[in-house]
Amino acid sequence: MRHWCADHGVIYQSFWTLTANPHILASNTVRTIAQKYRRTEAQIFFRYLSQSGIVPITGTTSEQHMREDLGIFDFELSFEDLKNVTLLLNQG
Ligand SMILES: NC(=O)c1ccc[n+]([C@@H]2O[C@H](COP(=O)([O-])OP(=O)(O)OC[C@H]3O[C@@H](n4cnc5c(N)ncnc54)[C@H](OP(=O)(O)O)[C@@H]3O)[C@@H](O)[C@H]2O)c1
Repeated sequence: MRHWCADHGVIYQSFWTLTANPHILASNTVRTIAQKYRRTEAQIFFRYLSQSGIVPITGTTSEQHMREDLGIFDFELSFEDLKNVTLLLNQG
């Protein structure tokens, strides 16, 4: 579906981005990447999605979280880190 969307100019979005993926955020993989880039786990996941061509939808009542959620465009995950998160997601 994502390939079809990309080919047809349809923006693919994620919802329940954080609430549906607590195991991803708490994983050793994402924690290690977060430490490496000095970002939060949420920022790593949002950045991963963005670099994968997905626009993450989230929401917050916290100014700090909003700053974090918007602060994902000044760093870039390496190919290796993208691959490791993809492997994690494919494990289900
Ligand atoms: N169109 C649709 O089909 C559809 C479907 C589902 C949802 N939505 C909408 O999409 C929006 C997002 O909702 P969602 O539940 O899907 O988003 P979500 O990312 O799964 O969860 C948002 C929750 O994550 C927390 N959060 C946000 N940023 C964070 C951060 N940096 N670190 C830690 N926690 C963070 C927020 O809590 P705090 O307030 O404590 O930050 C909030 O409770 C809502 O407006 C919802 O109505 C639309």
